[in-house]
Amino acid sequence: MRVAVTGAAGQIGYSLLFRIANGDLLGKDQPVILQLLEIPDEKAQKALKGVIMEVDDCAFPLLAGITAHSDPMTAFKDVDVALLVGARPRGPGMERKDLLEANAQIFTVQGKALDAVASRNVKVLVVGNPANTNAYIAMKSAPNLPAKNFTAMLRLDHNRALSQVAAKIGKPVSAIEKLFVWGNHSPTMYADYRYATADGASVKDLINDQVWNKDVFLPTVGKRGAAIIEARGLSSAASAANAAIDHVRDWVLGTNGKWTTMGVPSDGSYGIPEGTMFGFPVTTENGEYKIVQGLEIDEFSQERINITLKELQEERDGVKHLVG
Ligand code: NAD
Ligand code: LMR
Repeated sequence: MRVAVTGAAGQIGYSLLFRIANGDLLGKDQPVILQLLEIPDEKAQKALKGVIMEVDDCAFPLLAGITAHSDPMTAFKDVDVALLVGARPRGPGMERKDLLEANAQIFTVQGKALDAVASRNVKVLVVGNPANTNAYIAMKSAPNLPAKNFTAMLRLDHNRALSQVAAKIGKPVSAIEKLFVWGNHSPTMYADYRYATADGASVKDLINDQVWNKDVFLPTVGKRGAAIIEARGLSSAASAANAAIDHVRDWVLGTNGKWTTMGVPSDGSYGIPEGTMFGFPVTTENGEYKIVQGLEIDEFSQERINITLKELQEERDGVKHLVG
């Protein structure tokens, strides 16, 4: 399978490429060809060459080829999976939506290129921030590809929520099921554990503390990206790459009935307007995702969903000129 990675010489790229070539993305029996895109800038292309030298030096048995590109029209040729990572990261004091102006144009160009040259079944994951709106732009720029092929990364928020809940209830993350995140990859995201179980017991009952939910859990997960920037001086990279691997692996290989979170274009479920790139609980099977249906939305949840939806609609309004 052909996998494109943009921003391949960046921080996330440096964690991602080695894991893909190791078989963590598509399975330990699936050979992969990596098609890597960086900006034409001489320094970036040189850095990309250096990363490729290191990937080569790992002698990964599953790596069937690796190419460097400065043009999305060649990087995306026939790709089955496209990981759109390349974009400017935020610095301290910024919100992700402050990046919209700097990054939105990238996703118009890349959406058009995918539309022109990628496999008709390409699975696209947008990581570059603000991820939901950039995924929306790419989707709208690729009218000849199915809209459902475009997704945004909420998996890092999902994994952060899992780890916080596991620590709170004193159980391993592997015990927890049916936790997921609604909405935008931003502090407005709503991580929802009302349906979650730990070894079969209700997580909500085990925690039984709505104040912790509202005042500790949701702000901790929502502002985790900023906390990492503050601590590291750089935005999250290895955990972001890990989440990207989790997202695509589950999409391609299936969740065996388990719930996870993906940012996907809404089909109108839960009153989210069709086409909005929104984090939903999903299951996946045979390379397709399905939004989990029939969950009750209580008053608190509806309020949180409305807030994150409103933010996404404002972001979308801000890029109307790019998507027509
Ligand atoms: P980085 O600056 O280390 O690397 C980005 C790379 O992208 C650079 O090498 C740059 O040259 C390249 N690039 C820029 N424009 C490009 C283009 N048009 N085509 C190809 N390559 C291009 O940044 P990073 O830390 O790797 O982060 C990348 C993006 O991912 C940022 O926008 C960051 O905010 C975002 N991010 C998202 C999540 C998430 O959960 N969705 C998590 C972490 C980071
Ligand atoms: C994250 O959540 O870590 C990323 O989106 C990077 C950021 O800007 O917070």
